[in-house]
Amino acid sequence: MTLALIVLAAGKGTRMNSDLPKVLHPIAGAPMLVHALRAGATLEPAQICVVTGHGADAVEAAALDYDPDIKTARQDAQLGTAHAVAQARAALAGHDGDAIVLYGDTPFIQPETLERMIEARSSADVVVLGFDAADPGRYGRLVMDGEALERIVEFKDAAPEERAITFCNSGVIAADSATLLDLIDAVDNDNAAGEYYLTDIVGIARARGLSATAIACGETETLGVNSRAELAAAEVLFQDRARAMAFEGGVTFYAPGSVYFAYDTVLGRDALIEQNVVFGPGVTVESGAHIRAFSHLEGCHVARGAVVGPYARLRPGAELAEDVRVGNFVEIKNAVLDTGAKVNHLTYVGDADLGAGCNVGAGTVTCNYDGVRKHRTRIGAGAFIGSGTMLVAPVAVGAEAMTASGSVITQDVPDGALALARARQLTKPGLARKLMDMFRSSKEKHNQGTG
Ligand code: UD1
Ligand code: MG
Repeated sequence: MTLALIVLAAGKGTRMNSDLPKVLHPIAGAPMLVHALRAGATLEPAQICVVTGHGADAVEAAALDYDPDIKTARQDAQLGTAHAVAQARAALAGHDGDAIVLYGDTPFIQPETLERMIEARSSADVVVLGFDAADPGRYGRLVMDGEALERIVEFKDAAPEERAITFCNSGVIAADSATLLDLIDAVDNDNAAGEYYLTDIVGIARARGLSATAIACGETETLGVNSRAELAAAEVLFQDRARAMAFEGGVTFYAPGSVYFAYDTVLGRDALIEQNVVFGPGVTVESGAHIRAFSHLEGCHVARGAVVGPYARLRPGAELAEDVRVGNFVEIKNAVLDTGAKVNHLTYVGDADLGAGCNVGAGTVTCNYDGVRKHRTRIGAGAFIGSGTMLVAPVAVGAEAMTASGSVITQDVPDGALALARARQLTKPGLARKLMDMFRSSKEKHNQGTG
């Protein structure tokens, strides 16, 4: 069965007090919207339609950045959730199968929960995701009759006995997409908010002799973000979950609370992560790799047996093969380090290929940028780069070649060769002492003059 996903993301998010549309505020390095899309993507939908309104250009750009095949639909005036879903009609034209409605500001829905909704669809025409609310507040209430969902009442329109219900609407709804759009056509805005409520489709469906039911999930899954405080709480929740999953995956942490995960961080079994490590998006650390304290990683891959840090920075495109060593105050960007390569101290390696077992001395810089373009540096297997070498790219140092410390390498160095590119040393016996005596006596004279 093919599935369509409709993600509502047109709302303003007034309480965020922000120029950034609410659904673009990040959790663990990805916009909330992307979290919702990722959960939905595990169902392999044939179609995805994101409904945008406030900040539509930016929201659409973020959606397309996540998946260029996503369709977007504009809802110019936010007249309610049913009106929002109706905007997806054109995008869904020709779709034959179920549709699931998700909210862009509800980032924690689990794929398994969505799968359970799809399963429940085999016994009901409309399936709603509910949760038992500790504090039901202003959520819509699910009026059940045994397994059957009778209708959903919005808080504003609910009678006191309905307000007493604690089984609440998460907002996620699944139905056959043609049926869904049909039901939405029948929704009016004759209610306390003057809005077209998506929730009304349940009562309408039942009146038409269709069936409806609700399945339940934990409250944290349906957590919506409406304010900065809730955003911060959502971040904490995400980090706690990521940590718990990493523990289960066999990762060791010395101070788990000081390690920050991105939404897509992958840590292998027996990886060891020391204190105060930050993972930006796109990091994979393989089994048995060791990330030492105060390191910052993003968009990189660390193979098994590699040791990184303390105080190392791996930027996008850093590829560390097995047993590589990257030490303190070293920055690696868009560079491939082959097996056992060592870059241990105070070094910048950008746009480079480092051969197996090469050793890069302290204070080395790949001078990759000429002010306009970036150029590549190639270092062969087993090469030895002397401390303080400036490698002016594009340039290549051959296998088992050496550069003398302090060299400025502007020409390729053949395999096995030694390149010296620095001024020859001049030594003047006794001159240092003589100069110092001169300086001291001139300072004394100066002090007497002014004292
Ligand atoms: C909605 C549900 C309520 C449920 C609650 C769960 C309705 C009528 N009510 O209420 O039963 O308990 O969510 O959080 O559906 N949106 C649009 N266009 C609009 C209106 C909303 O895109 O015209 C989007 C918002 O950006 C948001 C989502 O739909 O992502 C929900 O809208 P919101 O206004 O937060 O609905 P609630 O009043 O919270
Ligand atoms: Mg809401």
